[in-house]
Amino acid sequence: MKDQARELVTKLTTEEKLLLIKGMGSWHTHPIERLDLPSIMMADGPHGLRKQDQGGDNPMGLGKSVQTVCFPTASGTAASFDRDLLHRLSEILGQECRAHELNVLLGPAVNIKRSPLCGRNFEYFSEDPYLSSEMAVSYTQGLQSQGVGVSIKHFAANNQEKRRMTTQSVVDERAMREIYLPSFEQTVKRADPWTVMCAYNRLFDGIYCSENKRLLTEILRDEWGFGGLVVSDWGAVSNRVAGIEAGLDLEMPDSHGLHTELITDALNDGTLSQAALDEAASRVIELVLRAVEGAAQAVELDAQRPECPEELNERDHAIARAMARDTMILLQNDGVLPLSREQAGVAFIGGFAKQPRYQGGGSSHVHAYRVASAYETAKAEGLEFDYAEGFGASDYNYDIVKARAAIDLAERSELCVVFAGLPESMDSEGADRKHIDLPPCQNQLISQLAAVQPNIVVVLCNGAPIRMPWAGQVRAILESYLAGEAVGEAQIDLLYGAYSPSAKLAETFPLRLQDTPCFGNFPGGTATVEYRESIFVGYRYYDKADKDVLFPFGHGLSYSTFDYTNLRVSKKNITPSDEISVSVTVTNTGTVDAAEVVQFYVSAPQDEAVFREPKALKGFGKVFLKAGEKKRVTVTLDSRAFAYFHVGLNNWHCAPGVYTIHAAASSRDLRLSSTVTMQSEAATAPYPALPCYAQGLVHAIPDCEFEAVLGHEIPPTNWPVPREMTWDCSIEDAQQSPFGRLLMKIIDFAFPIVAGIAKDTIGDASGMMDAVVEMPVRSIAMWSGGLIDRRMVDALVSIFNEEEYLRSACVLICGGMRAVKNVVFK
Ligand code: BGC
Repeated sequence: MKDQARELVTKLTTEEKLLLIKGMGSWHTHPIERLDLPSIMMADGPHGLRKQDQGGDNPMGLGKSVQTVCFPTASGTAASFDRDLLHRLSEILGQECRAHELNVLLGPAVNIKRSPLCGRNFEYFSEDPYLSSEMAVSYTQGLQSQGVGVSIKHFAANNQEKRRMTTQSVVDERAMREIYLPSFEQTVKRADPWTVMCAYNRLFDGIYCSENKRLLTEILRDEWGFGGLVVSDWGAVSNRVAGIEAGLDLEMPDSHGLHTELITDALNDGTLSQAALDEAASRVIELVLRAVEGAAQAVELDAQRPECPEELNERDHAIARAMARDTMILLQNDGVLPLSREQAGVAFIGGFAKQPRYQGGGSSHVHAYRVASAYETAKAEGLEFDYAEGFGASDYNYDIVKARAAIDLAERSELCVVFAGLPESMDSEGADRKHIDLPPCQNQLISQLAAVQPNIVVVLCNGAPIRMPWAGQVRAILESYLAGEAVGEAQIDLLYGAYSPSAKLAETFPLRLQDTPCFGNFPGGTATVEYRESIFVGYRYYDKADKDVLFPFGHGLSYSTFDYTNLRVSKKNITPSDEISVSVTVTNTGTVDAAEVVQFYVSAPQDEAVFREPKALKGFGKVFLKAGEKKRVTVTLDSRAFAYFHVGLNNWHCAPGVYTIHAAASSRDLRLSSTVTMQSEAATAPYPALPCYAQGLVHAIPDCEFEAVLGHEIPPTNWPVPREMTWDCSIEDAQQSPFGRLLMKIIDFAFPIVAGIAKDTIGDASGMMDAVVEMPVRSIAMWSGGLIDRRMVDALVSIFNEEEYLRSACVLICGGMRAVKNVVFK
């Protein structure tokens, strides 16, 4: 296919190549009809389809989307620790893509959960790179088996929403290799993703990911052997010429000629080589050919799915229910759960019982087919219960009338199930949370209910960790995460014991925000965000600092109990080239059939000179066991399980010494352990002595230690004020000028209107105002659908710089009139 694409590219004119390397509208590639190259379509992803209806392809991609099934989001699917579930999920998504004639689904999203505050954590898998990689590989293999491509995103180190389009992630090489890159690396090496989506932020040397040659070519292609296409995140392009040279093939969405002149000039003056343009165009052609072939091969597969959209949605809704059950985590239970279906005196309290949260806001928002709440499911199944709202699903403030009615009901009842969670605006793309608390009305009411009713079960709907000040006052907590449209059905299945919970946390729930490793360095300054904690992300840090947590990574209860016996490693003395197998027997010692996630952690010899985490997940297996049944769970460990990234050698290195392998039920429930001895050459230490890193004192890393791991000076955290405005400066920066402040007022006025219009397609966008003002000035042109051109952006920038007012005003007025004329006479 590569050869065919190379051959075809020779037949293209430069104009055609320029068309091919940018989108057509929001979601399509350009067709080249004379060469029979069709246009292909992409759509979000990752846990359902967000395909814009015909005619809905407006410039911002905010048109209405078709109704499809919303599956559990990645926080939950990762918690299933089930590779097969991910494979099945994406196979189903692939079938839906085929039914809706989509060629690429924009997922999986594999950024590491660096802070629980990141607004998109619900879309991401884990704080752990191994788990995240395994999920991403399975997702990719499943989707692509259906003739539909993935776009693994967002490459790379895009771990926050604050200033996501301009900030520089300042990450040391070792943290990149050990924490932030593996999900991409493993997927590229093991699953051949059709496309990789580069992130908005700046990375190595402060260069945008979309034009970062080290990232897009040296690491991705030269080191890992990526053979697919790199697509920009939507609107991530700053300098398109540099992007082509760096390895960014396709710009999305359509930039309406914004860069054409620059590219042509660069080709003419030789700053851009024809070869680089050809390479980008040929990769787009190859993607199109792959999509055509995928569609042809999938014809047989297509026959396996219901043809009628209603039937397809019904089938997939049932699958979404089964999957949701496997993604919910029983965090706490003193035996009160499961409830008996005959249990009398049950009260359901909380607006989330009727209006569950089941997905987050932003580009992944699915126009769901049929949302099932716990309330209506329980009614439909004939369960007896009373209901009081207590607090609404989007309430913040305590409502005394609602609360009083709930407390009265609790007093009269024998058991209360409280349905709580985060309001929709708090799990959203474009906005990080500022704290990890539930709205005050919920915390207050749960404590009050616990004061009058000893039997409280809390059921949560939230995309990321929250604080639970009432955890010690309630008998059980079921974490649903954002479980997709069948959320309520799955909650009832688990609460009433039709199935046993089997998921385990793919991230740590800290006791307080202040405990989190990047506290104080998230979300950073106006220019950069410093990843001072280096490799100490998630449990790697809590273990190193020996900190108590609310619920540890890997934790999750079941209605059964499991014994671990007979841990075996296939070889005790190993070398870096060995692969060993490790196995353990797991017995279901309870009375119900249930699945158990067995985790294998490796503890490396602790060495002052090379700071290492106390242990890291290196394998897992999930087994379903009937009551009394036992099975052996086996994993394979290769040298990566023992290695760290040695920055001096620029390679992975296995230090000699004794390593401990733990078979565990969670990162803090280690059941059995065994040791192996690594026989390898010792390497000289990669750093000078770094006492704070060595002790895991990540909140106190001095500049000199951070610079030592970075290998260069720390770039300035903030831009100077006032700042010389450029295309890459944000509307926020522009407020230093009177016109910038005026623009801000206009945005303030217009934002709620646009957010209201967009509600159907991206959910509750009320928290996204910051994201709009943090957008670079160039985005104004990008999202204008061609109405604002280069000259107008230049004029805007001049005005922001308080220069050339008259000339710039003329350019803007003329441009504005041209735009109005174009719209009116279109
Ligand atoms: C998001 C991507 C998404 C794209 C298209 C961007 O803003 O970051 O994840 O795929 O929009 O909707």
